[in-house]
Amino acid sequence: MRMVDLILKKKAGEALSKEEIDFIITNYVNGNIPDYQMSALTMAICFQGLNDDEQFNLTKAMLESGDQLDLSSIDGICVDKHSTGGVGDKTSLVVAPIVSSCGLKIAKMSGRGLGHTGGTLDKLESIPGFNISLSTEDFFKQVKEIGIAIVGQTLNITPADKKLYALRDVTGTIENIGLIASSIMSKKLASGAHSIVIDVKVGDGAFMKTIEDAKKLASALVSIGKRFGRNIEAVLTDMDSPLGENVGNANEVIEAIETLKGHGPATFERLCKKLSCEFLLMTNYCKTEEEAYKLIDEKITSGAALNKLKEMIKWQGGDPKVIEDYSLFPQQKKEIKVLSVQDGYIKRLEALEIGVSAMLLGAGRENKEDNVDLSVGIKICKKVGDYVSKGDTLAILYANEKGIDEAYNKVLNAYHFTNDKVKANDIIIDIVK
Ligand code: URA
Repeated sequence: MRMVDLILKKKAGEALSKEEIDFIITNYVNGNIPDYQMSALTMAICFQGLNDDEQFNLTKAMLESGDQLDLSSIDGICVDKHSTGGVGDKTSLVVAPIVSSCGLKIAKMSGRGLGHTGGTLDKLESIPGFNISLSTEDFFKQVKEIGIAIVGQTLNITPADKKLYALRDVTGTIENIGLIASSIMSKKLASGAHSIVIDVKVGDGAFMKTIEDAKKLASALVSIGKRFGRNIEAVLTDMDSPLGENVGNANEVIEAIETLKGHGPATFERLCKKLSCEFLLMTNYCKTEEEAYKLIDEKITSGAALNKLKEMIKWQGGDPKVIEDYSLFPQQKKEIKVLSVQDGYIKRLEALEIGVSAMLLGAGRENKEDNVDLSVGIKICKKVGDYVSKGDTLAILYANEKGIDEAYNKVLNAYHFTNDKVKANDIIIDIVK
């Protein structure tokens, strides 16, 4: 087989066989196929697409390129959640403790933030002492004992995807639904959980800008997962505006803690409860939505869900006192109010601009190697649908020295106004099963 023939085949719109896809992935990982040929192929895929069989075979080849976690020694039902990435997305920090307190097991490998999107690992590291690098043995022990662990990738998971994703990032070939779906699913399948909920973000701050594209991605993810025998569904959720009221790291963890205490922002709480409810239903842990929501509310009201987070923090070397004493989190030096320069109803608040502003303050990374300042971020004071007068505080920048002027202007420009009343979008758009 010659790579050039396979590039020509895809360029002509023909489907690649399993053997051809295996040949490509094996030889790309071991260095026999150079980046320039692989980028020609990914560009041809961007124009011609991948059919269902190709998506399945590409996922399988990437999955089998590295280690896979075998969770079968853990009693009970292991569940996993994935978000396609957004601004202010601390959902895992709430959903994982809730479902774990209900009796499901969460053995979760998370990622770091890049660009305008945050990552769960960075957020967790704002808890003093928190260790995201457990050995596989300690990871399993913790899940068996307390039913929850969130760690970074210690195993060599999907090296093919790592190499291919880095190439796609610099060759303008990220945005193809088949490539995105096989990239995400290869990693999720390698993490071993049997029941998976994918939060597919839609809108300004997300990969998928339209509901139509998000539905296509959701269907591709679910159909790949099912072909691998997994229990999977995708929930489409709104990412036109930032999620909740905080974007950053330490401030997002505080918001997650407040939500587990029952004082979270309404839209964020709705999303967390909905995702938790889906887990309880798909695993037959609860029979009806009513039963699931009742159980979730009980776990929040009784403090059981918050206690799960506390246990996880303790087991992973963090200081559990942060739950009660927020002054233990890294502290920023300055709080700068962003003031409205006009009156009106807020009709749009651009998630992307808020995410980029937080990154400029130091809360995110432009490049993989950059350090993150865990203390900085943005507090959203006014949201879509709110009425504001000139001089009102729209948002607060939690800042040190970096990026203040640029972030201030970006946050201000992220707000769009109208004279007419506005109804905010529902956070839950659709579910694909
Ligand atoms: N996230 C992934 O993991 N892979 C993609 O291709 C896009 C988003």
